[in-house]
Parts: sequence; C-alpha cells; structure tokens
Amino acid sequence: MAKILVTGATGRLGNAVLRSLVKIIPASDVVAMARDTEKAKPLAALGIEVRYGDYTDYDSLVAAFEGVEKVYLVSAVAFSDRIAQHKNAIIAAGRAGVRHVTYTSIQRTNDVLAPIEGVTDSDIATEQLLVKSGLTYTIIQHPLYADDLPFLMGANAAKEGFSAPVGQGRAGFATYAELAEAGAALLTQSGYENRTCLLNAGQTWSFQDIADGLALLTGKPIDYQPIAVQAFIAARKADGWPTAVATFLGGWGKAIEKGAFDQSSRTLERLLGRKPKGLHEMLRKTFDL
Ligand SMILES: NC(=O)c1ccc[n+]([C@@H]2O[C@H](COP(=O)([O-])OP(=O)(O)OC[C@H]3O[C@@H](n4cnc5c(N)ncnc54)[C@H](OP(=O)(O)O)[C@@H]3O)[C@@H](O)[C@H]2O)c1
Repeated sequence: MAKILVTGATGRLGNAVLRSLVKIIPASDVVAMARDTEKAKPLAALGIEVRYGDYTDYDSLVAAFEGVEKVYLVSAVAFSDRIAQHKNAIIAAGRAGVRHVTYTSIQRTNDVLAPIEGVTDSDIATEQLLVKSGLTYTIIQHPLYADDLPFLMGANAAKEGFSAPVGQGRAGFATYAELAEAGAALLTQSGYENRTCLLNAGQTWSFQDIADGLALLTGKPIDYQPIAVQAFIAARKADGWPTAVATFLGGWGKAIEKGAFDQSSRTLERLLGRKPKGLHEMLRKTFDL
C-alpha cells in the first residue's frame, strides 16, 4: 500500500495520529517525520519508519516526503513563522510527488470574526496555499483542545472556581486524542478529498456549562466569573507568564466570546464511528476528576 507520512511525530497530535494509524494499516505503510529523530524512537519500536524533516529546511522535507502518497501536515507551533514553514511543506510535497496533503487548521465561524493573532491568519493563508497547490487536499478544522482548557480557566478551576475572558461565548471542544483518531480514520478513507472538515464534539457549551459540569463532577459549587481580556492578561502576567503567551491566550478567549467557535459538526462522530466524549467526560479527563 502507498505510504502515509505524519509530521509533528514527537508532539501530542502527530504522535497520537501515528499510534491510531498503525491500528488501521500496517506499520510498514506509515512514516513519522520528526526534527529530532531520537525523540521519535518509541515510534520506530512500533515498526514505523522515522524520517528527519524540519519545516524550516525545504530540502529535508523533499527527502522526507519521497515515496509518500499522503501527508498529514500538523500545523507549526505558534510564535514561529508558520506560513513560511507550511509553504515549505506544501511545495516540498508537490516536488516529492505526494498526491494528497491533509492540513490541521483552526475552527472559525468565518474568516473575519475575531481572528486569533498568530493562528487564524496563518491558517487561512496555509489553506489558500494548499487549495492553489494543485495537490489533492483535506483541510481539517480543529476546535480548542479540551485538554488545554486549564490555560484559560486555571489549573485549579475544579477546586476553586474560575474566571475566564470568554463572557457568555460558546464553543465546541474535543480532546486531541479523539481528533487524532479521527485524523487517522480520515487518512485511510476516501470521500474527504478537496474538502474542509470541521471536527468537534457535535455541540457547543458556555463556560457556565463548564462550571455546572465541574460542580456536578466534584459535588461542590463552582463559580465562573467572566473577566475582560485585559484583566486576564494582567493576572497571568502577575503569575509570571510571558506577555506574549498571556496575550496569545487572551486572543483565544476573545475569539470564543465573539462566537468564532460557536459552530458544531457531526463529522468527528462519523469518523470515530461513535459519539465523541461529552463535556463531563472531557472535564473528568482534563481536570483529573
Ligand atoms: N486547537 C488547539 O486547541 C491547539 C492546541 C495546541 C496546539 N495547536 C496547534 O496544533 C499543532 C499540534 O498540536 P500539538 O498539541 O501536537 O503540539 P506539540 O505537542 O507542541 O507538537 C508540535 C510538533 O511539531 C513539531 N515541530 C515544531 N517545529 C517544527 C519544525 N520546524 N519542523 C518540524 N516539526 C516541528 C514538534 O517537534 P519537537 O518535538 O521537536 O518540538 C512537535 O512534534 C500545534 O503545533 C499548533 O499549531 C492547536
């Protein structure tokens, strides 16, 4: 069978996609791309071929993509030149003869509503590059990972209650593990060519719903206080966060408040072949309850 390569193999998402893929297809058809191949050794132990590749090194990408039919391109980290890195990967894929590139983009109600600085702009640009590349593409739009809710709510939210800069905004979440499992299913099925697919839990929740869920799970009242983005940034800076990180997270909060994530989809459920984790299951896992 033709080979499928997954980038970001040493990160949360890419690693989980690879581990899901080898449950569906032989490991000999799976390639992991890492910029630190030592770190990817546990994948080699599963029979997965590990290849070196760095988004900032075009030649390394062409070499990594050699003989590969499909690439699952994990978006580059924030606070880096994401567009240049993604462009390198898309052009290298074409050069190496890759047929189909699947890119992990960000959910958004539309392109103008509350873009998140450092994320939405580069994801839109990447989607456009991919659509124009002539390659077969799939754009997967991910919601906020439920696993990362503590960045907005604080790690002690389930003990002390919480504030968050999201007002009454609603969002659909999903765990990165289920997004990865769905990504592996998508890579091994047809029907998603030249399409954009929003993946999330299939419904949206407010942060008051989250507080109510935590109260139910802990048996204690949990208070949610909406706060202004500037107050959130100041509080996180006072906790020692770098300004850029606090501002970045504030941008996610603003986007949620404005409704940029207030949109649900059943595609994740279809790909998983079951209902995705609901709010309580996600909260139990995220807050270790
Ligand atoms: N929707 C959400 O809520 C959400 C949350 C977090 C992140 N994201 C986005 O989704 C992506 C995947 O998330 P994640 O949680 O898996 O992130 P992660 O754990 O930080 O993994 C990022 C992966 O990208 C690799 N990488 C970084 N720079 C690279 C480069 N120049 N060339 C090749 N590989 C490079 C990292 O390699 P090393 O191990 O060598 O660093 C790592 O394997 C992130 O990069 C970010 O764009 C989305």
